[in-house]
Amino acid sequence: MPTHLRFRRRSYLGLLFLFSLSTSALYFIYSAPGIVNEYVFMVQARGIRIRENVKNIGAQVLEQVVRGAYSNGTDYSYDFNMSESDAPPTAYLPEGFTYLHSQVCPEKLPSMKGRLEVNMSEVSLEDVERSLLQETTIAPGGHWKPKDCLPRWKVAILVPFRNRHEHLPILLRHLVPVLQKQRLQFGFYVIEQAGTEPFNRAMLFNVGYKEAMKDLDWDCLVFHDVDHLMENDRNYYGCTDMPRHFAVKLDKYSYMLPYNEFFGGVSGLRVGQFNRINGFPNAFWGWGGEDDDLWNRVLYANYTVSRPHGELGRYMSIPHHHRGEVQFLGRYSLLRHSKERQKVDGLNNLNYSPLVSKRPLYTNVTVSLSRSLAPVADY
Ligand SMILES: *[C@@H]1O[C@H](CO)[C@@H](O)[C@H](O)[C@H]1NC(C)=O
Ligand SMILES: *[C@@H]1O[C@H](CO)[C@@H](O)[C@H](O)[C@H]1NC(C)=O
Ligand SMILES: *[C@@H]1O[C@H](CO)[C@@H](O)[C@H](O)[C@H]1NC(C)=O
Ligand SMILES: *[C@@H]1O[C@H](CO)[C@@H](O)[C@H](O)[C@H]1NC(C)=O
Ligand SMILES: *[C@@H]1O[C@H](CO)[C@@H](O)[C@H](O)[C@H]1NC(C)=O
Repeated sequence: MPTHLRFRRRSYLGLLFLFSLSTSALYFIYSAPGIVNEYVFMVQARGIRIRENVKNIGAQVLEQVVRGAYSNGTDYSYDFNMSESDAPPTAYLPEGFTYLHSQVCPEKLPSMKGRLEVNMSEVSLEDVERSLLQETTIAPGGHWKPKDCLPRWKVAILVPFRNRHEHLPILLRHLVPVLQKQRLQFGFYVIEQAGTEPFNRAMLFNVGYKEAMKDLDWDCLVFHDVDHLMENDRNYYGCTDMPRHFAVKLDKYSYMLPYNEFFGGVSGLRVGQFNRINGFPNAFWGWGGEDDDLWNRVLYANYTVSRPHGELGRYMSIPHHHRGEVQFLGRYSLLRHSKERQKVDGLNNLNYSPLVSKRPLYTNVTVSLSRSLAPVADY
């Protein structure tokens, strides 16, 4: 065989090799199963915190890291001391306890029994509306408040949304009865992102917050992913010790906290706190990173995050694969400047024009998002 042919073949093989590298990189970015992406996210986020100045890690390296995380359970550890160390002994009120209409509802009610059944079977929104409205009176927008005592907290549940129509009724069927048992006043806001930009969970929360406050003077905000279902009704959604991270133990992470600074899934702040930290960042397009930024904001404001104790923070998540949603790869460089950005990106640079409608169980806030709606000044 002439040498030039052999040479060509070799370079052809080289190209093939490069191609396979790049496609596997793309695979990990766009279509790896959700769990792998979550691991990439966890491992990367840990790396960032350990070495703040780590340069951007290539997807190929990450693949190895991910494999390592899978094959070796020693890659991340769960610090048990992160959960409330001063956990009070469970002193729930006894069965049959009657409280006065004129008194503030207790926090530890007899109706809060602990472990919950999680029903993930699909159901239509109409069926959930019918069955919930048949049992109790819920006002449009999913507004409810207890009648046998005065609600201790007014909680707005904010749910960012896109393309998950089968998950929403499952969440409502599960969560509405729990909040009623917890005797909280509440309302649901589903903030749906229209348009074709990557999903911006954080900006949706900012929009949802602003819209919710036009409705009522809520005092607690719960930022809730649509696919997270709590497993224990003693995980109280009132503002006890805020800011709070509710979703401590997720089934998809084998019921371990993936890393100490994890603030994803379900979290909550008081309204005053949320204002003080300038809300969520608007600059996180695609999934991942915005919850870490929120954690940083909370820390810079000198708050400490509380977590439910022990089994209370368990959640199951409805399986899915980040369908068509891209990861936000620029998050690590943004996270390095959390502090500087906090002042210029958040509630104070946000413009939007929502379409708001009330459904029986939630307020639908539909909004088209783009970068120009949240211009970031130099920092
Ligand atoms: C897991 O980690 C331990 C200690 O770091 C190491 O000795 C072992 O070889 C690792 N196992 C695998 C499969 O990588
Ligand atoms: C965790 O808490 C226990 C008891 O409060 C303490 O003895 C232990 O040293 C703590 N561990 C760490 C790693 O902080
Ligand atoms: C789950 O929910 C569906 C529809 O709401 C109901 O038919 C089914 O019996 C429930 N399953 C359990 C185990 O409760
Ligand atoms: C947080 O605490 C530090 C040290 O006590 C203080 O210097 C800083 O000003 C505080 N930050 C805020 C936002 O209160
Ligand atoms: C919200 O409203 C928009 C437009 O009115 C509609 O297209 C969308 O399906 C609604 N979403 C939900 C979750 O109800």
